[in-house]
Amino acid sequence: MSSEEKKESLHAGAVEIEKVIKEYYPVDDPLVLKKLRQWQDLKFGLLMHWAPSSQWGIVESWSLCSEDEDWCKRKIENYTDYKKQYDGLKKTFNPVKFNPQKWADAAKSAGMKYVVFTTKHHDGFCMFDSQYTDYKVTDAECPFHSNPKSNIAKEIFNEFRKKDFMIGAYFSKPDWHSDYFWWQRFATPDRNANYDIKKYPERWQKFVDFTQNQIDELMTDYGKIDILWLDGCWVRHFSEPEIEAERKISSSNIHRIQNQDINMPQIATNSRKKQPGLIVVDRAVPGPHQNYLTPENQVPDKTLPYPWETCMPMTPSWSYEPELEYKSSRKLIHLLVDIVAKGGNFLLNIAPTAEGDYEPEAYERLKDIGEWMEINSEAIYSTHPIQPYKEGKVCFTQLNDKTVYAIYLADEGEDKLPARLNLGELLLPTTTAEILGTKISVRAIKNGKNYEVEFPESIRNNIPNKYAWTLKFSGIAK
Ligand code: GLC
Repeated sequence: MSSEEKKESLHAGAVEIEKVIKEYYPVDDPLVLKKLRQWQDLKFGLLMHWAPSSQWGIVESWSLCSEDEDWCKRKIENYTDYKKQYDGLKKTFNPVKFNPQKWADAAKSAGMKYVVFTTKHHDGFCMFDSQYTDYKVTDAECPFHSNPKSNIAKEIFNEFRKKDFMIGAYFSKPDWHSDYFWWQRFATPDRNANYDIKKYPERWQKFVDFTQNQIDELMTDYGKIDILWLDGCWVRHFSEPEIEAERKISSSNIHRIQNQDINMPQIATNSRKKQPGLIVVDRAVPGPHQNYLTPENQVPDKTLPYPWETCMPMTPSWSYEPELEYKSSRKLIHLLVDIVAKGGNFLLNIAPTAEGDYEPEAYERLKDIGEWMEINSEAIYSTHPIQPYKEGKVCFTQLNDKTVYAIYLADEGEDKLPARLNLGELLLPTTTAEILGTKISVRAIKNGKNYEVEFPESIRNNIPNKYAWTLKFSGIAK
């Protein structure tokens, strides 16, 4: 990845990929392992970032934080006023177009199989009915509270569950609205708890209890939950040497890092009492509570030997901001193929507007992806990486029965197959391949160590769909 690309992708507190993929702790709970394998077969999920701040069309939460970064500038100069107005967004949040069934239908037809929704982001606003705060969508001061669908997280989970999605709760460990995290007695210089935890351990304990209680609510009253996706990796246990090391490498903005031990063993154990087999993703915190890794806005450049997921927004932002450019359908399909060929899952974020719908572009992208999946999804679901995972513009996947798929990623304007395709040093179960979506068969021929396929002109011009074409070399069972 070039340094320019890297800069662009490291939006909103993202942790660099080298750090994220450093350490994986294998799972030993058989129920978690089972669910993790099921989850790995799903490949494609939907993430949504949504909160009252979408009314302003700004980056989620981060403008509340005094770290002075270009990507989270405040629109007004006076912080105190800003914070007051930001908090007040609760009083005008009324997403009357909210229709989770429409979203679930669109996501399902795009081939998505799981959903992760922001129940609470760093700003602390609860998109669920927590009894531990009034900073929530169901509070009497929020106009949406009287809507029958006011418990937004519950409605989303129920609708997607009906369509057999796995259900994931995004939950921010930091809570910039809680007086136990950002104590009003002090200023809020950065993302961390703004008081000395060693000096006020009782206050921190209250925050730990508050967090545990809110997660308990989500694990108890919201039906079957499959994934607890915990964000805010700076809220974690740190030993003194680790703090020292962090201080040296972190940007000058977050020097107030301290041991913000949120008691993950307790969170995981209690949650799994209610939700056996729950996948816990304590993002970017190396340790046993990060059951899969989550490179953010980045795709690793090789296969990784453990479960992982790239999360990425359809636009450059996680949250709704007006007039942002959507990634093209081609780009999104190519990302999905590339990620799956490397053994990962793709969690694609769509940000609803303040009225409670997606922008038309999001539906258009989902429809395009769905049409492609209609023909090609067998090369995606339940596949495993095969070496090489890629040769030039061709990505490879395989099924347990040894069926091998070669997916050719066509560039913009490339509307027919190339005359000849090099498949590299692939191990093929057979040399005859079917082109998915057609009745056409072609042959792979060995040229030295490599397999190659030649396409006659008549075939090259006759391939349905666009974006990417798949050759299927059927395995033993066929
Ligand atoms: C980053 C951002 C956060 C966002 C998350 C999604 O951690 O800081 O705002 O929710 O990415 O992956």
